[in-house]
Amino acid sequence: MDFLQKIDFSNIPQHIAVIMDGNGRWAQQQGHERLYGHNYGVESVREVLKGAKELKVKYLTLYAFSTENWSRPKEEVDGLMDLMVRTIANEVDELNEKGIRLMTIGDTEGLPEGCRNELKNAIAKTAHNTETSLILALNYSARWEILNATKIIAEKVKNGEIDESSIDDSLFNKSLTTNGIPDPELLIRTSGEHRVSNFLLWQIAYSEFYFTDVLWPDFKKEDLFKAVLNYQSRERRFGLISDQISKDV
Ligand code: IPE
Ligand code: IPE
Ligand code: MG
Repeated sequence: MDFLQKIDFSNIPQHIAVIMDGNGRWAQQQGHERLYGHNYGVESVREVLKGAKELKVKYLTLYAFSTENWSRPKEEVDGLMDLMVRTIANEVDELNEKGIRLMTIGDTEGLPEGCRNELKNAIAKTAHNTETSLILALNYSARWEILNATKIIAEKVKNGEIDESSIDDSLFNKSLTTNGIPDPELLIRTSGEHRVSNFLLWQIAYSEFYFTDVLWPDFKKEDLFKAVLNYQSRERRFGLISDQISKDV
């Protein structure tokens, strides 16, 4: 089915966030080690990035490593960090050719030094690109991010930089690692799990959720288009009733 043909280009989410899940199960189903699935997952990242660019999606956020993922077996964690370093180093030229800007969210200070350096380099080299921003959520925990923002704001109140009465949505947004990035209109999770796993808790207040049983290494451009098409069939009411929402806007 050609989903792209059916997409309404006047109603593309400007930000799509993805919980890339199912790499381990995908590998194990084929009798391989879990890391084999993570390696294959990189191909899906390329595909989805390509698809997002075709749709002119401005921001694509990928949940690549959660704070909780540190508790996995050491071999898997080391393999994932190594994969990250190699992939970023390999892809930076191509990101530039395609006009893609790399960004990160999460507590990146907690990543191994090699990984931090590779990221710093790629972020600087792609900073001028304006087509699509690829945002990697690394050592990410939404609760950490919310607590961190709270501490930043508390410190400013304590120093007299701001008054308590000026704490609002906008100030809170600015104190999150997603500062400057609009909230995702669409959140996709692969692999049949129906949970949020500590991802973007503040930012998904009004996101549309799309769950698919497809495992991440099998998730391709067409799957992204299918998700966007499904998103376009939703009525986003934001607390209003249906009659108040003009379909023409
Ligand atoms: C997602 O796949 C990738 C990461 C969390 C890094 P998983 O590794 O969680 O795969 P499953 O869920 O065990 O199949
Ligand atoms: C969420 O996937 C984290 C990433 C995709 C990086 P997990 O596989 O770690 O989530 P849980 O543990 O099943 O909730
Ligand atoms: Mg998983």
